[in-house]
Amino acid sequence: MRFHRQKYRRRSPLALMMALVGMLPFHANAQTKATPPSDAQVQARVSSLLKQMTLTEKIGQLNQLGAGFGMGGAQTDDTIRKGGAGSILWVNGAEALNRMQRIAIEKSRLHIPLIYGLDVIHGYNTIFPIPLGLASSWDTNLITQVQAVAAKEARADGIHWTFSPMVDIARDPRWGRIMEGAGEDPYLGAAIAKAQVRGFQGPYIGAPDHLLACVKHFAGYGAADGGRDYDSSYIPESQLWNVYLEPFRAAAEAGAGSFMSAYMDLNDVPATGNRFLLQDVLRKAWGFKGFVVSDAFSVQGMITHGFAANPADAAYRAITAGLNMDMASQTYLQNLEGLVKQKRISEAQIEAAVRPILEMKIRLGLFEHPYADVTKIAKIANAPEHRKLARIAAQRTVVLLKNTKNILPLSKEGSVAVIGPLANSSADMTSFWAGQAAYKENVTFLQGIKNKLGASAQVDYAQGVQITRTIPSFFDAIMQRKPVEKWSKAQEEEEYAQALELAKRSDRVVMVLGELASMSGELGSQSNIELPGNQQRLLEDIASLDKPLVLIVVSGRPINITWASEHVSAIMAVWHPGTEGGNGIADVLVGEINPSGKLPVTWPRHAGQIPTYYAHNLTHQPETDKGFTSRYWDDSSFPLYPFGYGLSYTTFTYSNLKVQKSTVKVGEPVTVQVDIANTGRYVGAEVAQLYIHQRSGSASRPVRQLKGFKRVILKAGAKQTLTFKLGKDELKYWSSAERNWVNEAGSFDVWVGGDSNAKLHTEFKVVP
Ligand code: NOJ
Repeated sequence: MRFHRQKYRRRSPLALMMALVGMLPFHANAQTKATPPSDAQVQARVSSLLKQMTLTEKIGQLNQLGAGFGMGGAQTDDTIRKGGAGSILWVNGAEALNRMQRIAIEKSRLHIPLIYGLDVIHGYNTIFPIPLGLASSWDTNLITQVQAVAAKEARADGIHWTFSPMVDIARDPRWGRIMEGAGEDPYLGAAIAKAQVRGFQGPYIGAPDHLLACVKHFAGYGAADGGRDYDSSYIPESQLWNVYLEPFRAAAEAGAGSFMSAYMDLNDVPATGNRFLLQDVLRKAWGFKGFVVSDAFSVQGMITHGFAANPADAAYRAITAGLNMDMASQTYLQNLEGLVKQKRISEAQIEAAVRPILEMKIRLGLFEHPYADVTKIAKIANAPEHRKLARIAAQRTVVLLKNTKNILPLSKEGSVAVIGPLANSSADMTSFWAGQAAYKENVTFLQGIKNKLGASAQVDYAQGVQITRTIPSFFDAIMQRKPVEKWSKAQEEEEYAQALELAKRSDRVVMVLGELASMSGELGSQSNIELPGNQQRLLEDIASLDKPLVLIVVSGRPINITWASEHVSAIMAVWHPGTEGGNGIADVLVGEINPSGKLPVTWPRHAGQIPTYYAHNLTHQPETDKGFTSRYWDDSSFPLYPFGYGLSYTTFTYSNLKVQKSTVKVGEPVTVQVDIANTGRYVGAEVAQLYIHQRSGSASRPVRQLKGFKRVILKAGAKQTLTFKLGKDELKYWSSAERNWVNEAGSFDVWVGGDSNAKLHTEFKVVP
C-alpha cells in the first residue's frame, strides 16, 4: 500500500497526529469576557415587562410569523407594529431582519425586540456535512466546533435562534429526515445532542456569537409509520423512555433554551397538544425551564389530525398542554384572547407561557442589541478557518465500508475517470437546509479530485446517467437547482456510452453514485432504498470492465449497495459532505487523511429488512441458532454493515478487556479497561465502542447496547489503555414491568471493539 509513508516518516509524532486530525482552528467554547445576568435579574426584568403588557401584547409574544415563502409584507409589518408578533422565521439577511426589527423597536408600544429563528442545521454560509454525516464522525468535539461556526455566521447575519439540533432517533432509512439526525442509537444520539447544544449556545445562553438552540422534534417523529414523513408514531413506553426520549433529555440537561414540538400523533395524541410530553416529561421529569415552539402550522394541524374540533379548540389544547409559541399558523393570535375572555384559560396561564420567551430575549441581549451589524457577515462568511473546519468535518464523516485489493488509498499517478451524476453536482454537496448558502462555493468531488491529482494524473469526468426525483416536492422546487432539462433518449444513450468509454480508457475509476440532496430530508421519504435511475446498471457495466473501482456513495440515508458490496473493491459512504466536501473526500481517497468514520445507523441490505437495528431484543430462537429461528427465509436477516462499522487504512487490535471488580453492588460503578493497539502501518483514528448486555431483568433487555465510546488517534505500532466507566446511568433502564427506571442486580456482558459486532468479551455481576 502506498500511503505516503515517507511523508509521515519525516514528521514528528505530534505533526503526524495533527496531519491526521487537522489542526482545529479555534476553541469553540472559549469563555468570553461577558457574563450572563443572574436568574433573579432576568426574572425581575420579565416581571416588570409583564406588568406593562396588555393581554394582546402578551399573546403577541406567543406568535411566530412566517415571513418567507410568500408570507410577510405589509400585513406582517402591521402585526409587528401592534405588538402582535414575538418572533419571525424564514427570513435571513441582516438588512431584511433589521428592517422588521426597527418596526418592533421603534413603532411598537413596548419596544420588545423580535427573536429571529431559522433552520441553521449544518452550517449557514460555510456548509458542513449533513447531521447524519457529522454523526458518523462520532467526534463530539468536532461537532461542537462545527455548530459554533454555524452559530457565528448565522448570528452575524442577524439570526438569534436555530431550529436545531434535530435529535430524533431514526431506525427507518425510508424516512427522509433520517439525514437530519444522529442515527439510531440513544447513547450516541444523546452525546451528539449535547455536543450540538454546546456548539450553538456556547458556554451560556446569550454568549456572544452564539444562538439559542431549539431541540426538535419533540418527540417520536423518527418512528413514523412506514417511514412516511408526518405519519403517526406508535411507541411503547419502554422504547419511548429508553430510546426516543434519551437524546432530548440529554439536550435539556445540556441547557438547551427551547424545544420544538413534532408534527405527528404520538400514540394518538399530536405532539403539539401532548400534555404528557410537554408537561410530564419535559418540565416535570426533566425540569426544563425554557419555551416550546410548535412546528410550522402544527397547532392548526391538530384539527386535521382529528384531535381538535376547531381553531379555538386547537389553541386551547396546545396552550394547556404546555406549548408556548405558535409557529406560523396564527391560531394563538386569533383565538387566545377569546379563550381568556370566556374564562377557559386564565391570563396567568398566558403569562406563564410568555415568561420564558421574554427571558430568552433578555438572555440573548436582544433588548440592548436588537440590530445586526450589516457589514459583519461579509467579513466572516466562508472565512478560511470555517472552510478549514468544513474540510476536516468532511474528512471525518467518511465511512470506509470496503477496501480490498489495496485499491485505497489511490496513488497520485495514473489516469482517473470520475463518473456519476453526483460527481460534479454542487447542489448535492449540501442539503435543502443550506438554502441561504451559495452553492457555487461548494467544491464537488470532481473538483476535489482534480485539486488533489490534477498535477500528477489525468482526471476526466462523465456524468453517465441523469437522476431526478420520481415525484417532485415543494422543497425540491425551491432548492437552488438550475432547472435541469431531461435528456432525450438519444442523449441518454450517448452519455451512457461516453461514461463507459471513459472508464475503458482510464487506469482507475471513481464512481460517485447515490441520491440527490433533494431526495432526503423533509418531503423525502421513499418506499425503497435502491440506487435511483440507471445508476445500478451503469455500476454493473463499469464493474465488469475489471478496472480498479472505487464507489463513493452520496446520500442522506443508507441505500441498497448490496450488489456493490460483493462486486466493487472499495466503497465509502460520504453522505452530503458540505462546502469543502470534494476536497475533504479527496484527502481521504489519496490517504493524506486516514478514514475514521463509523456508521451511526445500521446499513440494511434492502428495504425489506427495515426496521433493522442492532439493539434489538433476542427472540427465544435467535438467528444464530439452527432450526426454528426468527429470520427471513429468503435472505439473510443480518444487515449489510452493522451499526458502528467503519474501516481504516490501518488496523486496530483490542486486547486485555477487563473489569476492575467482577462483582459490584447495585448503584456502584464498574470500571472497564481495554488495550487498543494500532497494528497496521499508518497513523489513524479509531472509535472504540463499548457495548453491554444485561442477561436477565424485570424486562427483556436488548442483545447489545452502546454505553461508551472513545475516539483515539494512534501512531503505527502505538498502544493505549482506555478506561470506561459504567455508572448508574449506563446500567439503568426503564422497565415496562415496573413502569419505572430500574437499576437491577444481575449478570452483564461487556464487549469492546470497533463496531457493534465486537467480539472481545468480559462480564461482571451486580448484586443487591
Ligand atoms: C418544518 C420542519 O419540520 C422543522 O424541522 C423546521 O424547523 C420548521 N419547518 C421551520 O422551518
